[in-house]
Amino acid sequence: MKISLSGIKPTSTPHIGNHLGMIMPAIELQNQYDCRYFIADYHAMTTIHNAEKMREYSYGIAAYFLAFGLDPKKCVFYRQSDLPQVCELTWLLSCVTSMGLLERAHAWKAAKDRGSEGCEPHGLFAYPVLMAADILIHDADVVPVGKDQIQHVEMTRDMAERFNFIYGNTLHLPTAIVSEQLHTIPGLDGRKMSKSYDNTINLMLPPKKLKQQIMSIVTDSTPIDQPKDHENCNVFALYKLFATPPQIEELTQNYKTPGFGYGHAKLALLQRLTELTEAPRKIYDDYMAHPDTIEDILRDGAARASTKMNEVLHRARKAVGYR
Ligand code: TRP
Repeated sequence: MKISLSGIKPTSTPHIGNHLGMIMPAIELQNQYDCRYFIADYHAMTTIHNAEKMREYSYGIAAYFLAFGLDPKKCVFYRQSDLPQVCELTWLLSCVTSMGLLERAHAWKAAKDRGSEGCEPHGLFAYPVLMAADILIHDADVVPVGKDQIQHVEMTRDMAERFNFIYGNTLHLPTAIVSEQLHTIPGLDGRKMSKSYDNTINLMLPPKKLKQQIMSIVTDSTPIDQPKDHENCNVFALYKLFATPPQIEELTQNYKTPGFGYGHAKLALLQRLTELTEAPRKIYDDYMAHPDTIEDILRDGAARASTKMNEVLHRARKAVGYR
C-alpha cells in the first residue's frame, strides 16, 4: 500500500482553509493509502512559546481529525514530539542542504520582507528541513497539503535527491497532492483565509462565536431592495464550498431577488455549517473533555510510527557511515 503522510501545526484551532485544503482531503485517503498523519508540534515551536497553549492546541487538532472521521485504527496518528528520531534525520539533511535553497522558501522571504530576518529564530529558517525529515522518514509516496505547502514538498524532493546523489539511493521521493478546486478560500475580509490575516472561520468555535464570525464577513453595500451579484460575494463563495448543487441554485436565485439581504445569506451559510458540524462537534467536545483518551490514541500512533521511522533512520545513518 502506498504511503500518505501529512502534518498540521497546532498554532490555533483549525479553520475552514485547513479543513478543506488539508484535513478532509487527508482523511479521505484513509481507505486507499497507508496514512500517517501527525500534529506538527515541533514546527509550532517557531511561534508558540507557552506550554499550556502547545498542549491545548495539540489536543484541539487531534480532536478535530477524530471528529471529522479519521480512524486511528486505519491510520497512524501521532504527535511529532513523541518521536525525536525526526530531529536526527533533520541534521543529516541539514548537512547536505544549501543555505541558498532555504533562502528561497516563501516563509523565509516573507520574514526578510518584514525586515525581521536578523531576529528570526534559526528554526524558522531551518523549518523546511524538519518538514523534509517528517516526510522522508516515512518513505512517503504522497503528501496531501494545501497549496501554500507545495514549495516545501518540492524542497523535500531537492533535499532527498541531494542526499541520494552523495550517498547513493537511500531516500524515497514524495509527491504533493493538492485539491485543485480549493485554491482560493476567501476569509472574512475577502482576502485569502489565513491565520496571519486574522480573517479565519473556525468551525469548532462555540456556536455563538461562530455566528459572530459569520456575521462579520465583509460584503458590498448593495441595498436590500436591489438584486445582488452572487459571483462577487464572499458569503456566496463560502456557501458554495459546503452546499449541494440544488442548495447553490436556490441561493443564486435568492441573490437575484430584491428583499433578500446579505444578513439572510449569512444566516443561510451559518445554518449549512451548523448542520454539517453538528455530529462532529459532539465528538470533538467529548474528546476535548477527555484528553486522556487523546493521549492513548497518540501514544499508540507513535508506537506504530516508530517502526518505519527507525528503519529509514537506520538506512540513512548507515549511508552516511555511522554505526
Ligand atoms: N508546514 C506545514 C504547515 O504549516 C505543516 C507540516 C509540518 C507538514 N511537517 C509536515 C505538512 C509534513 C506535510 C508534511 O501547514
